[in-house]
Amino acid sequence: MRRILGPYGGRRGQMVSNHPFKQLTTMMRSFAGGLFVSIAVLLLCTFSLMSRIRENRLLADAKIDAEELWSTRSPSGWRPSSVPGPDWKSSSPVKNGYLLVRCNGGLNQQRSAICNAVLAARIMNAILVLPELDANSFWHDKSGFPGIYDVDHFIKSLKNDVDIVMAPPAFHMVANKKKKLKAFQLRPPRDASPDWYTTVALDKMKEHGAVYLTPFSHRLAEEINNDEFQRLRCRVNFHALRFNKDVMSLSQLIVRRLRSEGHFMAIHLRFELDMLAFAGCVAIFTPEEQEILREYRKVNFAEKRLVHDERRMIGKCPLTPEEVGLILRSMGFDNTTRIYIAAGDIFGGERFMQPLRALFPRLENRTSIATAEELASVKAEGKGLLGPAVDYMVCLLADIFMPTYDGPSNFANNLMGHRLYYGFRTTIQPDRKALAPVFKDRERGNTRNFEGRVRLVMSTTPFGGPHPRISPESFYTNPWPECFCKSSSEFVKERCPSDSGAWGSSSTNSTSFSY
Ligand SMILES: *[C@@H]1O[C@H](CO)[C@@H](O)[C@H](O)[C@H]1NC(C)=O
Ligand SMILES: *[C@@H]1O[C@H](CO)[C@@H](O)[C@H](O)[C@H]1NC(C)=O
Ligand SMILES: *[C@@H]1O[C@H](CO)[C@@H](O)[C@H](O)[C@H]1NC(C)=O
Repeated sequence: MRRILGPYGGRRGQMVSNHPFKQLTTMMRSFAGGLFVSIAVLLLCTFSLMSRIRENRLLADAKIDAEELWSTRSPSGWRPSSVPGPDWKSSSPVKNGYLLVRCNGGLNQQRSAICNAVLAARIMNAILVLPELDANSFWHDKSGFPGIYDVDHFIKSLKNDVDIVMAPPAFHMVANKKKKLKAFQLRPPRDASPDWYTTVALDKMKEHGAVYLTPFSHRLAEEINNDEFQRLRCRVNFHALRFNKDVMSLSQLIVRRLRSEGHFMAIHLRFELDMLAFAGCVAIFTPEEQEILREYRKVNFAEKRLVHDERRMIGKCPLTPEEVGLILRSMGFDNTTRIYIAAGDIFGGERFMQPLRALFPRLENRTSIATAEELASVKAEGKGLLGPAVDYMVCLLADIFMPTYDGPSNFANNLMGHRLYYGFRTTIQPDRKALAPVFKDRERGNTRNFEGRVRLVMSTTPFGGPHPRISPESFYTNPWPECFCKSSSEFVKERCPSDSGAWGSSSTNSTSFSY
């Protein structure tokens, strides 16, 4: 541009001149400058307008049909099945010894530990002693296996896969001599491979007649490249493990009452002391509450510098009750929606529940639906594992399930897998990381397109149909494709096994759910 201004162009400000030509060039220069700025501004405006138009179009395209989510997802030809293939044999009558395990953790960590124990016994060709359940100080629960699950059903359903006994014998035979049986205690490595069970553990079992594995959660790798082993886990998890009669009838009663007014949604609201302390999301609480969270963290978890805002931005903070409400409202659920809250004590209490209640006044939980006597009859009123067991069943049977946090083998993760198996039931899985900046903008007062932006994030999340398991998703969260099959498929591997044989499909397909 300078060149067209002639020989003076490049020598700006060298001397002040009143020559009319120079004045003209100065004018032209400032005019050109102005023009340049105008064009730039115009371009910028056009650009921002276009990106806004693009954003608006994107937001307009991000539609969610809330009404449609009440139905189950499309199975795309798949159905749940854990029937073994033709090469799977009944368990061998010759055994290597007794396997004893002590499961630890909460209800659901112990649930996957039980599945692992059955598989380990099968791998070792051992007799499984009914798994011992943890009665630790947090849960204050002494109910044990029979207090929670239906033992007869458990043993009977697995009779072709493993032998299960209530207790080990006092004596066993070694070289024709009667010896007192004393289980050898072993601590399995985390996520041990099947090889560890057939070498280290099996050697000790043969030597001592029995091994006692403790602690026993996450002690067998989840990803095992053997579909038959994985299907056995599904037979345990989705067929053999049934809560006992008391838990089942109380859950059914609660579901019946909820259903009497139409469909309902269950939310696992993981806004509890231990969760928040673990996640390190404390900044939204009062100084006193923060102190309680910090103290709990110090006693129970490894030391780590955790900054709430950073944790939130990477999706590591559980959703607040208010965020849950905002997500559901943005998705198009209105204030008539019936919501069952599965949770222990909400940390911070009503102060945090209020914003959710304002958006969704029809909130229920097991204490609001069942009477105190009904709850006491199952000992489901207090801490213990029975309250969570009832919540588990209600969440399994709900038309829609929404977790607010997911971690290894916890309540939400197991339920997502179970609901997939139980006929592709809708699960709403908020992408906390993608939602964090949207919520943050709102908190700063930028509410433009808030609902559209939430909807845009939510429209890209899966709602619970069959989908490939992608690490770090757990087998217990998504047992597809191992525990699903197709009635007809060009691929032999996908086809459902025949209905005949010791297992038959009668006890292992979805139609046989006795819930
Ligand atoms: C639900 O929302 C409607 C408006 O959409 C309002 O008229 C009604 O009062 C609300 N009901 C409750 C129980 O808040
Ligand atoms: C259930 O909700 C009521 C209020 O409706 C509340 O007082 C109670 O603490 C809740 N119970 C549980 C277990 O969350
Ligand atoms: C198993 O499932 C298939 C397909 O859903 C069904 O046709 C069959 O009757 C079921 N078997 C039993 C015994 O329920």
